[in-house]
Amino acid sequence: MNKLCLLFSLLLVVAFGFVNGGKLEYDIDKSKEKIGIYELKNGNMSVKFTNWGATIMSLVIPDKHGKRGDIVLGYDTVKDYKNDTTFFGSVVGRVANRIGGARFSLNGAQYKLPKNDGNNTLHGGPKGFADVIWKVMKINNHSEDPTILFGYDSKDDENGFPGEIRVTVRYLLRSDNRLRVTMKARALKKATPVNLAQHTYWNLGNHDSGDILSEEIQLFASRFTPVDEHLIPTGVLSTVRGTPYDFLKPRTIGSRIRELGKGYDINYVIDGPDDPKKLKKTAIVKDKKSGRMMKVYTNQAGVQFYSGNLIKREKGKGGFIYKPHAGLCLETQGFPDALNHQNFPSQIISPGKPYKHKMLFKFLTAKDNKSDKSSRLAEIDFD
Ligand SMILES: *[C@@H]1O[C@H](CO)[C@@H](O)[C@H](O)[C@H]1NC(C)=O
Ligand SMILES: *[C@@H]1O[C@H](CO)[C@@H](O)[C@H](O)[C@H]1NC(C)=O
Ligand SMILES: *[C@@H]1O[C@H](CO)[C@@H](O)[C@H](O)[C@H]1NC(C)=O
Ligand SMILES: *[C@@H]1O[C@H](CO)[C@@H](O)[C@H](O)[C@H]1NC(C)=O
Ligand SMILES: *[C@@H]1O[C@H](CO)[C@@H](O)[C@H](O)[C@H]1NC(C)=O
Repeated sequence: MNKLCLLFSLLLVVAFGFVNGGKLEYDIDKSKEKIGIYELKNGNMSVKFTNWGATIMSLVIPDKHGKRGDIVLGYDTVKDYKNDTTFFGSVVGRVANRIGGARFSLNGAQYKLPKNDGNNTLHGGPKGFADVIWKVMKINNHSEDPTILFGYDSKDDENGFPGEIRVTVRYLLRSDNRLRVTMKARALKKATPVNLAQHTYWNLGNHDSGDILSEEIQLFASRFTPVDEHLIPTGVLSTVRGTPYDFLKPRTIGSRIRELGKGYDINYVIDGPDDPKKLKKTAIVKDKKSGRMMKVYTNQAGVQFYSGNLIKREKGKGGFIYKPHAGLCLETQGFPDALNHQNFPSQIISPGKPYKHKMLFKFLTAKDNKSDKSSRLAEIDFD
């Protein structure tokens, strides 16, 4: 009887998935791959990840009063991530953003992709990189630079994309509340498109503080890629001047959002020369109430600014209900639908031409603003 009870409990643990100690949280059905939750800490910053979607689950840092808070939207359990449609915290791919008409051609061949956004393909299709188990290839939270490395092998014809690729995402916590993200991809046999994006929703006032409309944003982008009614770029690069898209000077996100219907969901062309080795200043977000500030740098050509328009009463951490604009995304990436626009920078990689996407987040509070040396950070090169 006791043995039966034990067996039954074990089965329950596997089926509903949680084990004390925080490591193994959910056991994927009929697979030996484990989904876990991993935590890295450096100074006053701690970040939780899961290998489901190579996801950032939380990022906790102090506010101006020294009070710690979580500034990332998400769920309490991995099970909830498996059923989400918001892409909370995950890495999206093989091709982030929209591919118009769910098709493209490459080297004379036509490729048809599964549609998961009207007639378009969004974030790599219905089972993209946000919805797969990544391998934890390395974790080190005992060094000066705590790091976690996730890896995923995407097969030939997976979600309709040609060619096998090997992808890695490394998260690294540096001192002074800096988070470095490096996304790499290598084509093993033939050319294929790759455009990865980190899809964390930020709310600097805490994930459960309401909306981000009073937060201030500055985007170092003089141009954007206007879209049609299905959010597919027309192919034109337009100036932001004289439009509600102009954040060259810092403004609150809510200041002109009503002129845009649902809000911001648009790709900006980041100013500065396209040098894949150099990080460009991309965005600064500030929240007056908490005194928190986030600076974003990348080596990518574009950044999708999304004001969380489509969040619909999403039940998140601690039972908090996220509503539209509960968080914002700054998805650095190539331009949307570049596969169907010759004039956009190419997203085709090949065995001799790997992909490398770098991001740097720097978190500050009003208190340590005076000693901010982050203008120099843009020059830091990293592998
Ligand atoms: C370091 O990582 C291990 C494995 O994920 C985890 O059990 C432990 O809690 C972590 N330590 C800290 C200080 O986060
Ligand atoms: C951590 O936060 C405390 C309280 O705000 C502060 O006094 C301390 O300097 C911080 N330490 C680091 C390493 O940032
Ligand atoms: C999955 O999400 C849908 C809505 O997006 C919801 O109706 C359903 O109850 C969820 N399933 C689970 C098991 O949480
Ligand atoms: C998808 O394309 C078909 C055929 O052109 C059209 O009838 C339909 O309205 C489109 N659907 C959406 C959501 O745009
Ligand atoms: C940091 O300092 C700059 C320039 O002195 C100022 O514009 C900005 O508002 C400050 N940031 C915060 C979070 O207080």
